[in-house]
Amino acid sequence: MTGSFAIEPYLRAVAARVEGQLRRVAEERRRAGPPRLAEALGYALLSGGKRLRPALVLSSAEAVGGDAGDGSLAMRFAVALEMIHAYSLVHDDLPCMDDDDLRRGRPTVHRAFDEATAVLVGDGLQSAAFSWLLGGGEPRAAALAALLAAGATRMVEGQAIDMAAPGAALAEPEVLDLMARKTGALLAAAVVGGAVAGCGEPRGMERVGEKLGLAFQIADDLLDLTGDAATLGKGAGKDAAAGKATLPALVGAGEARRRADALCDEALALLAPLGAAAEPLRALSRFVVTRRH
Ligand code: IPE
Ligand code: IPE
Ligand code: MG
Ligand code: MG
Ligand code: MG
Repeated sequence: MTGSFAIEPYLRAVAARVEGQLRRVAEERRRAGPPRLAEALGYALLSGGKRLRPALVLSSAEAVGGDAGDGSLAMRFAVALEMIHAYSLVHDDLPCMDDDDLRRGRPTVHRAFDEATAVLVGDGLQSAAFSWLLGGGEPRAAALAALLAAGATRMVEGQAIDMAAPGAALAEPEVLDLMARKTGALLAAAVVGGAVAGCGEPRGMERVGEKLGLAFQIADDLLDLTGDAATLGKGAGKDAAAGKATLPALVGAGEARRRADALCDEALALLAPLGAAAEPLRALSRFVVTRRH
């Protein structure tokens, strides 16, 4: 099934809605100050990006028949998760980590500001995410905060394994574990959290999220290998140069591509019983592996 759902307009609409809320967060931080920290935080939050995780949250909530409107718990969770993601990017780009100069087509936060500010922006975004999620006073937000915290913890574990990996000669199961933690966990939290926000239960979305999370990181690693900085909005060809442990490096690009496609098909099969309500989520699942940036 190829699917005819127009994913690009869907993503653009989600991005516009999410960015409206992120602007409110940035404005709150600006009022609190200090000005340089607040400016850098706004820069990290409102710098483009696909807003894929919020789209996964909202489409997962829709898939289980839940509310995905602007005032919904799903939207609150989507915005909080995107803040955690933004923090993870700011820290990932630091000189002591991947040492990148370009992100979302602009200088990275430590290049546009300075390293200390970038560290503090990440710290600040992390706590701001939980304040935002819990600040609506929704009783069910506590369960979502626990889910988000668990995902963020796994992301940090994955980043630690990633940083130690060059030279460590990881075998395939270890590389898959690295990927599942550093990227898979937050992506899975998006899919599961959307269902929990939408109907109060995960509804089997754990396995969908796991598969999409792995497929997403394989696609990211393939894009690093084959993409260019102008399209990606971030440096290309850096993983091989840094000796990163990636699936394409281990099994080759063709086999990695096949694995990503297979994971996407498995996710689609799991979503098939959800019918028409899951069409946006199915389209996003395909986008995860077909995207060019
Ligand atoms: C990039 O994530 C970082 C990884 C987790 C691999 P995205 O590709 O979702 O980045 P943005 O948010 O669209 O910039
Ligand atoms: C980063 O993975 C994952 C997180 C930010 C947690 P990468 O290092 O591959 O992400 P990019 O390629 O810099 O976006
Ligand atoms: Mg990295
Ligand atoms: Mg990186
Ligand atoms: Mg990458």
